[in-house]
Amino acid sequence: MEVVIAPADELAVLAAGHVDRLLRRKPDAVIGLATGSSPLKVYDELARRHAEEGLSFARARGFMLDEYVGLPADHPERYRTVIEKEIASRVGWAPEQVQGPDGLAADLPAASRAYEQAIAAAGGVDVQILGIGTDGHIAFNEPGSSLASRTRVKTLTRQTREDNARFFGGDVDAVPTHCLTQGLGTIMDARHLVLLATGRQKAEAVHQLVEGPVSAMWPATIMQMHPHATVLVDDAAAGRLQ
Ligand code: F6R
Repeated sequence: MEVVIAPADELAVLAAGHVDRLLRRKPDAVIGLATGSSPLKVYDELARRHAEEGLSFARARGFMLDEYVGLPADHPERYRTVIEKEIASRVGWAPEQVQGPDGLAADLPAASRAYEQAIAAAGGVDVQILGIGTDGHIAFNEPGSSLASRTRVKTLTRQTREDNARFFGGDVDAVPTHCLTQGLGTIMDARHLVLLATGRQKAEAVHQLVEGPVSAMWPATIMQMHPHATVLVDDAAAGRLQ
């Protein structure tokens, strides 16, 4: 695992650089997309490179990490909507070039299986962008998640719903209680993992991720077993590293 400590703006440039080099080498690459605050500057940088430097996403595809269950299709915080706004529309991706788990499916286990099959049919994820929760989750694999898990329904912890209430006008009750999320096993199948974390509130999770024992209670620690994992953190998020 490679750990890089740098100011937040530089982290975004470094992460975008990984995607940029991949796309220039493999124009039909599959890019794994996280939502939340952590990747936003990365998406800004990728959109800038698309607009100003000719970085082409024309043959690439995106696969989202997770989706809330039950948010209406037109809800602004539905992850599909967020990804459309923050990255897909800015790099010229048509709707069919981006896929996410279907949080509105009548049969969620079937939708989870279909999503796994779609990722496999695309040849797997080349680079997966990740954030990390304060409780150590990646995607929405909350503490206690099986280290071998695949895409499935999960219950969001109170902590995660409180952390995400800021996207729902501060109202924790407005945050959905369930999600569909890629499993830890699904994420580990990606060929390169690039995780970003900034701010003091992520310091304990980053400490566990890098220095803790591999444990389902800190799900991100499974990344220690990945052959190509890059962890990009600012000083504050690195504050508890030994
Ligand atoms: C979102 C996701 C989550 C977030 C994590 C950190 O798709 O997979 O694991 O990355 O909750 O969220 P932020 O970046 O908002 O602190």
